Amino acid sequence: MSGLIVVGLQWGDEGKGKVVDLLAKEAAHIVRAQGGNNAGHTIKVEGQEFAFHLIPSGILYPHTQCYIGGGTVIDPESLLQEIEGLKARGINIKGRLHLSAHAHLIFPFHKRIDFLNEQKLAIGTTKKGIGPCYTDRSARIGVRVGELINGEKLKKRLKEVLVIKNLELKNLFGDEEVLFDEIYPQYLAYGASLKEYVSDVEGRLASVIKKGEKTLFEGAHGTLLDLTFGTYPYVTSSSCLASGVAAGAGIGPTSIGHTIGVVKAYTTRVGNGLFPTEFSLEEQGRFLDHKTAREIGTTTGRKRRVGWFDAPLVKYTAALNGADSLALTKLDILDSLPQIKICTGYQAGNKKGESASAFMFDLENVHPIYEEYPGWMKSTKEIQTLGDLPTLARRYIDRLEELCQLPFSLISFGPEREKTLVLKEDFFA
Ligand code: IMP
Repeated sequence: MSGLIVVGLQWGDEGKGKVVDLLAKEAAHIVRAQGGNNAGHTIKVEGQEFAFHLIPSGILYPHTQCYIGGGTVIDPESLLQEIEGLKARGINIKGRLHLSAHAHLIFPFHKRIDFLNEQKLAIGTTKKGIGPCYTDRSARIGVRVGELINGEKLKKRLKEVLVIKNLELKNLFGDEEVLFDEIYPQYLAYGASLKEYVSDVEGRLASVIKKGEKTLFEGAHGTLLDLTFGTYPYVTSSSCLASGVAAGAGIGPTSIGHTIGVVKAYTTRVGNGLFPTEFSLEEQGRFLDHKTAREIGTTTGRKRRVGWFDAPLVKYTAALNGADSLALTKLDILDSLPQIKICTGYQAGNKKGESASAFMFDLENVHPIYEEYPGWMKSTKEIQTLGDLPTLARRYIDRLEELCQLPFSLISFGPEREKTLVLKEDFFA
């Protein structure tokens, strides 16, 4: 089985981008399969920063083939900007980027409805139109990439859909109707520009997987934002689990040999919703500022909320994904903290437990049970082997492994590719 899936085990922003970037070096094919341009990560290569939202970051390696699967939602304007941005920096995309015809399209009215919903719901969405687009997909009033690239089909479909969307905009929100004559020419032009990238992604993937070629699937967001099992309703609208990634790519679970769950050495979340181990104001004051800690969102520029490592949540999410190993990121951000806490269990009333699984409907009443450790107070930036780690940092990592009951296959301590310890030999074996 040549498939490897990378998923986030917290609320997104775990550093999956860097992990995927490293593993992409060994991969022939890289697939993004769910979500849209609500995701974002930054990759630092040879001093240059690249921000990605939809295109797999593995595109930076010239040998890879990259795919955007049928489970994604596409804002064509944003995707074209990403394509043009990469081209402008000399990255050759021609013949290397494959977009599934099954992916659904985000229209300006989806963004408008996202904005209008937010006035009432205050989920803290990215306002990229993701939820409304997936809503239309489920209601069977979506428009797909396969229609975008065919003028007549696009015209017919858009006309049908706009009747319903305009009733919704006018009657539900008291908003202005959207005009076919404004949207159609714009999307026709997007279709013409994207056409060269659209292909039979599902057929291609079936073939390369059958041949045993190394294929990397990158999950977007994080398991706690999963539509079904996350901290609902403060979640995104796609399935962020390994199984959701497989479903979005159009492959079977039997094609996956290894699943890596990425965790930050502490916890962050953007947007609203419960966060049991969130820092108190005093703890936040002792932590690095958001800019130094690189805790400002790539997609929306929002400051992330920060808290201690929450082992019960990771135990829960690792199980939901069937994770085989963990990748630990941003260890260096804890380098200057004199005291570090780990949440080892939850208590709610007289209920106690070590996995969040049984507490998901009681999260507002949960009291985290903490262990406190002295910080290592030394830079981890220059380490080359596990043996170079300060003793207290090693103790912290060992304790996380023990609590999560999974081995670390990779440890990262800086944004650069070389600031990584790779602890597993062949991820695709
Ligand atoms: P939406 O995905 O824009 O609908 O936003 C729903 C929730 O998911 C909000 O709390 C967002 O901040 C959060 N979210 C969506 N994508 C990401 C991501 O890639 N990283 C972190 N949070 C995300």
